[in-house]
Amino acid sequence: MLQQVNVGGSNGYPIFLNASLEGLGAYLEEKFGVKAHYLLITNNRVANLYAERVLKGLKEFRTDLITVPDSEEEKSLTTIARLTEEAVKFRTDRDSVVLALGGGVIGDLAGFFATIYYRGIRYIQIPTTLLAQVDSSIGGKVAVNHACGKNLLGAFSPPQAVWTDFSTLRTLPWSEIQNGLAETVKHAMVADPELFDFIESHADAIRNHDQDLLSRLAARSLAVKVKIVSEDEKEHGIRILLNLGHSFGHALETADSYKGISHGQGVSIGLAAAANLARDRGLLTEKELARIISLLDKLKLPRNIPPCAAKDLLSLMAADKKNKAGNKILVLPVGIGKSMVVTDCTDQEIMQAWEKVFK
Ligand SMILES: NC(=O)c1ccc[n+]([C@@H]2O[C@H](COP(=O)([O-])OP(=O)(O)OC[C@H]3O[C@@H](n4cnc5c(N)ncnc54)[C@H](O)[C@@H]3O)[C@@H](O)[C@H]2O)c1
Repeated sequence: MLQQVNVGGSNGYPIFLNASLEGLGAYLEEKFGVKAHYLLITNNRVANLYAERVLKGLKEFRTDLITVPDSEEEKSLTTIARLTEEAVKFRTDRDSVVLALGGGVIGDLAGFFATIYYRGIRYIQIPTTLLAQVDSSIGGKVAVNHACGKNLLGAFSPPQAVWTDFSTLRTLPWSEIQNGLAETVKHAMVADPELFDFIESHADAIRNHDQDLLSRLAARSLAVKVKIVSEDEKEHGIRILLNLGHSFGHALETADSYKGISHGQGVSIGLAAAANLARDRGLLTEKELARIISLLDKLKLPRNIPPCAAKDLLSLMAADKKNKAGNKILVLPVGIGKSMVVTDCTDQEIMQAWEKVFK
């Protein structure tokens, strides 16, 4: 059954869960009227799998489809320029609506395109990866990458709505499910002890790609993000808690010694490192640390890396965007289902945390 969750704040919007791709047209007609023009933006892979289902519901409208290659590299100004040329060719105007169909790459790219085309046109997120459903489609952050940094050019720009069809997870490979799972474990650790229990008790079914469980898991997980971003639209306050595991994870993603590590793998190892640091500081008991590690294991999420010089990883963490005035800003778990910002971790403590996740 269709469910609705609302993101609050000054630019609130609805998230529709258990929505069907074919049913989007009826919703759009009600929201924008019969005359609107739609620009469906997706990538080759998702287009092959799902464009037809979306287009089926949009038969009554003037709709144009633009596909880009399936790659993080498409999150670029070059692709924005290409999208602009195609959009103009399709007579996209101020009243047109962009439909971003795909994972986080398409959501960020098409969302950013909509944000700057004609100084901003409306857009809808249609997330098709677990990561996009529980994380990137919510919170209004859109961006492209630049040679000088990932997500360096972007904006806070909320969509008109998020239209989530969990059945799209059926075709998602396990490695991509894992990327989303790392964020759901993070959500549980940050703010939802019951979600943590839920994942613990259903880990086997989740690993077996049980469709019903994945949908229930995604719905509970995204609720954590909705609550936090509703309170802090532009990352001035508690939204930083969503960074749990990420300061460590980003260092791994950028380290030469760990080339090829995915974002989800980085976050998962980062959660283990943050949990070790929290235990050393007395924020977690030995038992709670063991529960976290065991949950990562049950989900087959990585929590170890081959050893390297912890000092090198520490220096990569110094470049973290979230740092302030030379201080490393870390988020650490406090028990299960709570977290806090810590600004006084010494380099020694951080290096020890890295060493604990070395194999
Ligand atoms: N805006 C935010 O708040 C935010 C938050 C987290 C991450 N991100 C961004 O999200 C991006 C990562 O997103 P992602 O993990 O979804 O990666 P992605 O968009 O690259 O998708 C992963 C892969 O799955 C494929 N795919 C998508 N849906 C599918 C489906 N239903 N079935 C089969 N294959 C499918 C894609 O084509 C791609 O190959 C990064 O660029 C990251 O910076 C943004």
